[in-house]
Amino acid sequence: MNFELSANSLDKVSSGGVIAFVFQKKDEEYKPHESFIKLNLILKGQLEKAAKLQNFSGKRGEVLVFIPQEKTLFNQVFILGLGKEDKFNLNELRKAIGALSGKVKHKIDSVSMDLPKVLKEELLNTVQAVCEGFILGSYEFNKYKEKKKKNKELSAVIFANAKNSKEIAKGIESAKLYCEGTILARDLVNEPSSVVSPTFLAETALEISKKDTHIKCKIFEKDELEKMGMGGFLSVAKGSDTPPKFIHLEYISKSKSNKKLAIVGKGITFDSGGISLKSGDSMMTMKCDMSGAAAVLGVFSVISKIKPSFSVIGLIAATPNLISGRATMPGDIAKTLNGKTVEILNTDAEGRVTLADSICYAVKEGATEIIDLATLTGACEIALGTEITGLFSNDSDLTEKVKKAAYSSGENVWELPLFENYKELNKSEVADVSNIPNTRWGGAITAALFLAEFIDDKKWVHLDIAGPAFTEKPNELGPKGGTGFGVRTLLNLFK
Ligand code: BES
Ligand code: ZN
Ligand code: ZN
Repeated sequence: MNFELSANSLDKVSSGGVIAFVFQKKDEEYKPHESFIKLNLILKGQLEKAAKLQNFSGKRGEVLVFIPQEKTLFNQVFILGLGKEDKFNLNELRKAIGALSGKVKHKIDSVSMDLPKVLKEELLNTVQAVCEGFILGSYEFNKYKEKKKKNKELSAVIFANAKNSKEIAKGIESAKLYCEGTILARDLVNEPSSVVSPTFLAETALEISKKDTHIKCKIFEKDELEKMGMGGFLSVAKGSDTPPKFIHLEYISKSKSNKKLAIVGKGITFDSGGISLKSGDSMMTMKCDMSGAAAVLGVFSVISKIKPSFSVIGLIAATPNLISGRATMPGDIAKTLNGKTVEILNTDAEGRVTLADSICYAVKEGATEIIDLATLTGACEIALGTEITGLFSNDSDLTEKVKKAAYSSGENVWELPLFENYKELNKSEVADVSNIPNTRWGGAITAALFLAEFIDDKKWVHLDIAGPAFTEKPNELGPKGGTGFGVRTLLNLFK
């Protein structure tokens, strides 16, 4: 998608459609924004008439199409709701634009608009939110559909009245990078697990590193992992014929900072539950169980253009969790990279076992900070719903940074406690720790406490993305499927 600037006013730009923004008033009536007032004047009050006639409320994302009878440079007007003015911020703007983008993506090839002023926000950030809305809102994954929509593609957005072209260009550039990373993550999640195997993820990582001299990549094969002692990861991989891969990506910063951030993604390419088999219904979407890994790859695909001032390593233990005569059985014991033993009482709690080894590896590599992203527990989705990620941490500074980064990306996180008292729920009779707690209550917390066993003394944030990684229904920023959650939050941490 191209973003262009025009010094002309809104009515002097030719496009397939122009946006007239409106806010929502308390009483379900709309309140016009400047762009609406301007266009309404040019159209001699017809916009107002149409909005009233159709009971337009200005709800965020509501769209009303108006086709002027007289000759104008724009073919139609999109009256677009921004929601309540006192709640208006960049996240609302991004979603409103996303909703419009999704609705018009196959109907017109260009849109023109004025950039609305968002209170206290810099122009750059407003532009970035708008462009992200356009790009993400029109995302599709239709490569397996024979009949693709062959109509027009929304390919150009023109900002009218554009001043400060340098700042606008920066906002556009950032949005393009953030969306490129997000879209790679979405595509990886949306592809079936028969395509996105551990080998596929490893090849994707290698390709990323080949394109960029700042990025190194090493793939560890099964025999090396055995020698290293990654018994946790290998116990999950045992049931599959497809070879496991451990992916180590590294972005080397030129600065002399001692900080080394590890981003660790859960990379279960399909979670059947293993011997503790899931039901048919609950494994239907389990190709999404590598969403954390997808986010790590999404981040690395653009990281060197964002140039963090510290080193970043990306770690993925990639394998499906399958059932076979060779699979790990409940009651088996696995030895992880730091020597701790884990009693596997439920093979469906596999993510934490693979993450344990990945985290130990990050510690050994000298990471000073660790952030993991994992579709870890159904319990987290029950606690926070489908739009909020659970955040757990042992460090308040890192927590604040991640919360801020998430907020400005429009991704939702909410902190849940690493409540030490519950640690004993993960006790095992025969090993150092059990992979499931002895109670079903507080499952997201006990899973996080399991991971905490492997963190050493490093600063750590755990993001349980089980809810937001995959959406069952379309939303303003994309269709059903992978959301690419986490990519934009992580990229914001590099700014
Ligand atoms: N991958 C699942 C968690 C999950 C559930 C992700 C729903 C996305 C949507 C994970 O491996 C799992 O199966 N967890 C179990 C843990 C239990 C056996 C302690 C769960 O949440 O039921
Ligand atoms: Zn599982
Ligand atoms: Zn899983």
